[in-house]
Amino acid sequence: MSQFPSFLAILFFLLAAWFAWRYFDLRKKIRQYTELIKRLPDELPTDFKQLETISNAIASLKTNFDSKLSNLNLETARLSTVLEQLTDGVLIADAGGQVQFANPAARKLFEMNDPLHRSVAEVLRNHQLIDAWRRCQQTREMQSESVELPGRRHFLQLFVIPDSHEGGSLLLVQDLTRVRKLETVRRDFISNVSHELRTPLASLKALTETLQDGALADPQAGPRFLGRISTEVDALTQMAQELLDLSRIESGQVELVLAPISPKQLLTSAAERMKMQVDRAGLKLSVVCAEDLPKIRADKARLEQVLVNLIHNAVKFTKPGGEIFLEAWSTAGGARCAVRDTGVGIPAESLSRIFERFYRVDKSRTGSGTGLGLSISKHIVEAHGGRIWAESEEGRGSVFYFEIPAV
Ligand SMILES: Nc1ncnc2c1ncn2[C@@H]1O[C@H](COP(=O)(O)OP(=O)(O)OP(=O)(O)O)[C@@H](O)[C@H]1O
Ligand SMILES: [Mg+2]
Repeated sequence: MSQFPSFLAILFFLLAAWFAWRYFDLRKKIRQYTELIKRLPDELPTDFKQLETISNAIASLKTNFDSKLSNLNLETARLSTVLEQLTDGVLIADAGGQVQFANPAARKLFEMNDPLHRSVAEVLRNHQLIDAWRRCQQTREMQSESVELPGRRHFLQLFVIPDSHEGGSLLLVQDLTRVRKLETVRRDFISNVSHELRTPLASLKALTETLQDGALADPQAGPRFLGRISTEVDALTQMAQELLDLSRIESGQVELVLAPISPKQLLTSAAERMKMQVDRAGLKLSVVCAEDLPKIRADKARLEQVLVNLIHNAVKFTKPGGEIFLEAWSTAGGARCAVRDTGVGIPAESLSRIFERFYRVDKSRTGSGTGLGLSISKHIVEAHGGRIWAESEEGRGSVFYFEIPAV
């Protein structure tokens, strides 16, 4: 009977020893497992028998985490591509006004290679833009501002958007320079067209009123006024045609029919077309060109129109007795043609502007003409992949050159 309690004590001791061993073994395994997770996070061990459930749970947690991480990386890569390629500038500033992020467009617009950790004021360098950012910081509401940066001749529009979490702000900058330029060109164009229309229309109105007031019955004045009406209508028709041509060429609607053509043939055919006008103006026209120049790839009708426009100008701006030369020679890039006159010439300050639509050096001197001929010619030459330019000396004459690539 006395053996029974000692048996119980032994059993109890054995059980306690077993539990203690299990406890220490488990602690050792957990330590090993933790070490392995720390050292090899990519290869989680799963063969820890006693830790099977927990290690499986950690493994599935890791798989889940890995997939979320790769999605996040993908999103970050996409976002940074968008920010890199965006033509609008993006700046992110913290609550203290320090720039924490700037995309390449922002660096370019503000001409600063390293804007990070600089103050917003240092990067924007314009008090109106800085004020907009300050207003946003104070009110925590979106602000916008547009300015012209005089030194850089840029029109910028800035939006400052408050960042609700960090107390900082997001600055979006758009470059409106091109849009503004196009608006100005459009406005000028409309005002030029209406101005050019007003003059012949006012003459037509005056002429018809005079006819209505009795001049129609006058055997001499009647036909003379009708003749002037016809001239004004011709001028208006020509202007409408030129505007139509210009808009077609500019919008790329005119398809060039390119074919090899010899420069000499081009010059002679234009000279023949203008012969009567040249003779009537008391001028002499000569073609100076070798027969065997390499052929150029050109739309004959269109390029002839360029030559006709240039000869027409030479006729208009050369006094009787003067001379016009049509020349062509070959260059490294193709063929160069020149229309040379001994006329009134063009002042140096106007030389760079004569190819603009409606530009005329001296409107009173020009008489007829709308100032579209050269801009049409420029478009045609450029559509051929060539270039056109002019040289001139006032009082001595002008030379208009254009170059067309060889076949
Ligand atoms: N050969 C030239 N000599 C002197 N000035 C010229 C000559 N060619 C052009 N110009 C100047 O350039 C301006 C623009 O020429 P452009 O041919 O575009 O217009 P235009 O001859 O006035 O009118 P349009 O050609 O539309 O009938 C002319 O008004 C003139 O002032
Ligand atoms: Mg002209």
